[in-house]
Parts: sequence; C-alpha cells; structure tokens
Amino acid sequence: MSRLVIVSNRVASAAEGKSSAGGLAVGVLDALKRQDGLWFGWNGKIEDSADAEVSFHRIGRIDCATTALSRSEYDLYYRGFANGTLWPTFHYRIDLSRYDAREYEGYLAVNERLAGMLRELVGEDDRLWIHDYHLIPFARACRRLGMRNRIGFFLHTPFPSEGILRTVPPHRDLIEAMCEYDLVGFQTRGDAQAFLDYAHRRLGLPMQGDTLRAPSGPVRVGHYPIGILPDDIQSKSKARSRSKLVATLKQGLQERKLIISVDRLDYSKGMVERFNAFERLLESRPAYRGQVSFLQIAPPSRSDVEGYRHIRRQLESTAGHINGRWTELSWTPIRYMNRAYERAALLSFFRASQVGFVTPLRDGMNLVAKEYVAAQEPEDPGVLVLSEFAGAADELADGAIIVNPYDIDAMARALDRALDMPLEERRERHEHMMQLLKDNSIKQWRDHFLADLEPPAVAA
Ligand code: G6P
Repeated sequence: MSRLVIVSNRVASAAEGKSSAGGLAVGVLDALKRQDGLWFGWNGKIEDSADAEVSFHRIGRIDCATTALSRSEYDLYYRGFANGTLWPTFHYRIDLSRYDAREYEGYLAVNERLAGMLRELVGEDDRLWIHDYHLIPFARACRRLGMRNRIGFFLHTPFPSEGILRTVPPHRDLIEAMCEYDLVGFQTRGDAQAFLDYAHRRLGLPMQGDTLRAPSGPVRVGHYPIGILPDDIQSKSKARSRSKLVATLKQGLQERKLIISVDRLDYSKGMVERFNAFERLLESRPAYRGQVSFLQIAPPSRSDVEGYRHIRRQLESTAGHINGRWTELSWTPIRYMNRAYERAALLSFFRASQVGFVTPLRDGMNLVAKEYVAAQEPEDPGVLVLSEFAGAADELADGAIIVNPYDIDAMARALDRALDMPLEERRERHEHMMQLLKDNSIKQWRDHFLADLEPPAVAA
C-alpha cells in the first residue's frame, strides 16, 4: 500500500509533539495525524561520525525516522547555507546573508546523504512530500539514486523576487533542482508567481497553465496556504482558560489590558519595530500608561548564527530602554520572556488577551496569527493586528487590522484602535475570520497538495 512519507529538516521528538515548535512542525504533525505515514529528517543532535544511523520513534500513529548530523554537516548545511544564506535571503534580508561555496557543497552533500538513507525506508509506490528550504535539492538527489516515486515540495517561507534571489550565487542551480519535483507548492499566490517568473523568464522553461515543462518532466506549481485546526484550538484554549498559569498571568495584570506576541527569536519577526510601536502608543496616548501591558514571548532560536545573536542584543536593549523609561512601582510595560511554553498554554494566553500583535517584516504564513484568532472566546474576542507582509494577511485582511510593520506610528494607531474596538465589531471580525480558518484548515492544505501530487490522468 502506498504511504505518505514526509521529509523535513527537523522532525519533532516524542516530547516535542506538544511544544511550541515552529509552524512547520505544527503543520506536519497535524497533517500526518490523519493517516499512517513516515516522517523522516534530522533528530536535532550533532554527533562525531558523519554516517550516523537511522533511529525510530513514534508520535501517536506517526512513525518517525531520524538521523544525527556531524559537526561539519551542521556547520555547512544547517548553520551555513540553510540559515546563513537561504533563510535571510528568502526573508528579504540580503544584508544578513553571506555566501560560502563550501557551505553550498555541504548543503548538497547532506541532501544526498539523507536521500540515500530514505531510499532504504520507502517503497516504490510511496508518495514523498519534502518540506522547506533546507531540502530544495532533495528530489534531484533521489532521482540520481534511481527513485521514481512522485515527489512534491512545499516551501514554508516566502519565495523572493528574482532581483533578491540572484544575490545567492548558485541561484540557477537551486531553481533547476526545484524543477525536478513533480509538484512545487508555496504559501501564497505571490510566492508561486515569483518562482514561475524566474523559471519561465530566466530558465526559459515553457509553461502550460500551472505546469512548467522542465527537462526532467512536467512540474506543477501552485499555492497552498497552510492552515490550522480551528475547532481543536478553540477547545484547547477554552479547556486551559481556568489553568493555574492563566490565573497567575491575570493576577499579574491586575485588570489591565494585555497585548500579546509569540515568536521564535528571529530577525524576520519585526520585534524591535513592535516594541517601538508599543512605546509610541504610550507616548501618544497617555491614558494607556499603567493600563496596558505588552507580553512578548520569544524562545531563542538558531543562537549560533550571528544575525540571531545581534537581534537578541538589540531586543534586550530596546526592552530595557522602554521599561527603564516607563515602568512604575506597580506596572512594567513590556514583559519580555526568552522561554518556550507548551502550545496549549500559549493558546490560553491568547484567549486571556485583548490584542494579538503579529507584525513580521516577512513571513511565509505565520500560524501564530491564525492560532490567535482560533483561540479567542467568541462572545468577547480579542483583535488581531497583523503585518501586511505575513502570508496570513492574504486570507485575514478583512478581519484583522492590517499594518505596515515599518510604520511605527501606524502600528501605534492600530494598537489604539484594537484596544478601543467595540464588542460588536470585534465579534463580527472574529466570526468572519473563524469561518475562513474553517474553510481553509490544515486538512484542506494537505488534501489539496496531495491531490495535486497524484499523477495526471492519462487520456484514454
Ligand atoms: C521555521 C521554518 C522551519 C523550521 C522552524 C524552526 O518555521 O520554516 O523549517 O523548522 O522555523 O527553526 P529551526 O531552525 O529550529 O528548525
């Protein structure tokens, strides 16, 4: 029987099945829960030997197979080309991107090693679904090993325009490798269009509808905005709303309003601009002083990559500066926490807040925005303030207050409007967004992608 095999750089451990992992792990977990399948990738460990073996664990019904990386693989592939070159570039931060040909070689080599390991684990009929920027050349590596499975690729991050992409020297090789998949999926129509523009104009590949005619065969291209399970999130946040943690949070607030943000500590998330916007609110609307608190939860991420060390220092100094200026004996304006919480706890915090402040400078989708909406109490919902540069803005533009994260004054005004929004308007916006989230849940994402990965029907 044909199985669904998912490959991503990071595979959740049994314990992490519940934690506040990034959007990819949350999405893949939800999608795989619905059927038996295999999830293959890195186990998050670094070991001395380069030919680490595969080990197995289970998360519910899902079989997971993982392997370690050697120190040099980690440095060249994960810390180097994936997170030192591709991540910043795909998020339009070419100022933070660097290129080293050895890192690119290491990136290709890890893709080849992982493909070789996977070949031993899959059957001929299994469908392979490869995820994210770490694994762009994975299909090419599989084809070189003679694997003929259907292979699809989904990019969780944004895909940049050609002018930005060309700053990565092996851009052509990368996009040619993407053209060895049967299906390539993106979060938004704009991302898919940027890819098609490059493949069609620069590589000169002919196009027929949504399909490119590449030398290795047809490549279907589409956009598949990743979703969540809104009903599941609603019931989890409700169930936890009377927990001890929420009681402690509310006690600390003493009836003050709460603005909340949750992000991996990443320079793409726009946290410095967000802190500044909150300060601008305090400057411009004195009535909020002492009356509203801003909670930023930001678990550290990729802390051995320079850009991340820098943003961490910047956030510490910005939060320190703002709190130093505004704190009173009984009120701290910004609570900035570098720790992770279990996902269900975060959902209950979302429900206890009045504003979800989600303002990345660039983001593939941003599932926090969607989870914030789904976690609200429908009778008295909080308001989502959302960056126009998050993929989620394509769907939630009519229900959220949309902001440009580079415009500090406009963000401060949006916070004011959100904190002051009448109940009826909050309910209407929430109901509208909830319906959209239900119509485009993670189930649709998965089913739509997998249906498009099926081989095209052969005409009789
Ligand atoms: C984003 C990426 C994922 C990644 C996650 C966590 O969501 O799209 O591919 O797994 O961040 O980052 P990390 O580097 O810790 O895996």
